[in-house]
Amino acid sequence: MGSESQLFQRFGRVVPSGTLLFHENDPGEEMFIIQVGKVKISKKVRNIEKTLVVLGKGEFFGEMAILNDKPRSATAEVVEDSEILVIDRKTFETMIRGNAEIALRIIKKLSARLQEADNQIENLMIRDNTSRIVDLLAKLTREAGKPTGRGVELNYTFDDLAGMVGLGREQVVSILDKLVKIQVIDLSGGAIVISNKEQLDRFMRYMEMREMFGEFS
Ligand code: CMP
Repeated sequence: MGSESQLFQRFGRVVPSGTLLFHENDPGEEMFIIQVGKVKISKKVRNIEKTLVVLGKGEFFGEMAILNDKPRSATAEVVEDSEILVIDRKTFETMIRGNAEIALRIIKKLSARLQEADNQIENLMIRDNTSRIVDLLAKLTREAGKPTGRGVELNYTFDDLAGMVGLGREQVVSILDKLVKIQVIDLSGGAIVISNKEQLDRFMRYMEMREMFGEFS
């Protein structure tokens, strides 16, 4: 038997989409490694749910409560049928103590997460809502865009975008409608398509200038 399936026999759990693994502020005694599927990490701020990240194959979560001895910092929900390794505190600590390679991978991942959190802070501090959406579209185009004949297609719903930037759905839809009018995106086929990447870049530069200089009249 391969080492992966041995691991799965010992720690694995098959978890259907829609399962809430834990809720923000719950006590936490386990961490999770995704082998198949997707898990959404989110936080509720006032009454708006903000998606911090959607994690996929090979990624881990739930380590913070164990490392810091604090309650869960966010909620974890399975959003695509998944196979997940569930590792208890003692096994996690033994794994880290016994394997520098695993420890290094975790440190690298935590650094990347901190950097992403810094970017989000910057984003929340300076940017108006349109800039936030435009920046997010540019980021998703780079990281997860699917080239098609009509442009770069993004496999996200309006609610996904709203969750990622911490705005209401209606606000997001109204900004997307404006981006359709200036021919940056196309929503006519039911998906979000970046129909003109150069126009998106130009519009981002325009928004940056406006932030720098304000409205000049
Ligand atoms: P824990 O606090 O145990 O439970 C929630 C988990 O979500 C947390 O551990 C991290 O693994 C993960 N998490 C929290 N904040 C972020 C973030 N900003 N980006 C990615 N993952 C996060």
